[in-house]
Amino acid sequence: MAAKSINITLKIWRQKNCNAKGQMETYTLKDVSTASSFLEMLDQLNEQLVNEKKEPVAFDHDCREGICGMCSLYINGRAHGPDNGVTTCQLHMRMFDDGATIYVEPWRSAAFPVIKDLVVDRSAFDRIQQAGGFVSVNTSGRTMDANAIPVPKEDADKAFEAAACIGCGACVATCKNGSAMLFVGAKVSQYALLPQGKVEATQRALNMVRQMDEEGFGNCTNTGACEIECPKGISLDNIARLNREFLKASLVSNK
Ligand code: SF4
Ligand code: FES
Repeated sequence: MAAKSINITLKIWRQKNCNAKGQMETYTLKDVSTASSFLEMLDQLNEQLVNEKKEPVAFDHDCREGICGMCSLYINGRAHGPDNGVTTCQLHMRMFDDGATIYVEPWRSAAFPVIKDLVVDRSAFDRIQQAGGFVSVNTSGRTMDANAIPVPKEDADKAFEAAACIGCGACVATCKNGSAMLFVGAKVSQYALLPQGKVEATQRALNMVRQMDEEGFGNCTNTGACEIECPKGISLDNIARLNREFLKASLVSNK
């Protein structure tokens, strides 16, 4: 499909800092190529704002290819916008009609406070990772080569699928309870399915869930919205596995 240009109206959340009261502001943008990505469109808007000597819109991004999980935006009421299985940086302007009005907001969740405009603080996810999302390996020289440890193909595939989580936070933002269970389920699963992850399995499940609760994420009530909006197709099976791992760990630690 040949690229064309569209004119759009943007309603964007502007907020000076975490303590300021924010509001939606309206901008018009002309000649946006339908071949450009959503972030390139925001670049175009910021160029226009700078030329008009106005403050550009702050938004997060790094890789711009669906890997880092930084580009977290709520677009027209959907986490990562109207396309399926893509992050905001992979969303294209061909998804929008000429003359469209597009609403752009930051993630809305108590555990992800707004820092400025569209940028939120997702360091709660980092602290959950630090609490248990790792394996300790003795590197004294006698460590077995990881490839020498046999792993059933089905387990390896499931672990790989769980490891595809990029920590973007769309699952939290889209959940009416602000639950982080899909993220934590993916992070626990990727290790629980592999022999390398068994050694610390008990502390991992307990510590990551404890940290998740401390960070103020809500409880999971199985609405399934997280799975629908996850750009990496992380399945609810990972939440079920997290619950099993947590139960096992609780029984072991109570002995
Ligand atoms: S589970 Fe999906 S939506 Fe949640 S942080 Fe991981 S990639 Fe993002
Ligand atoms: S900028 Fe890295 S996933 Fe979008």
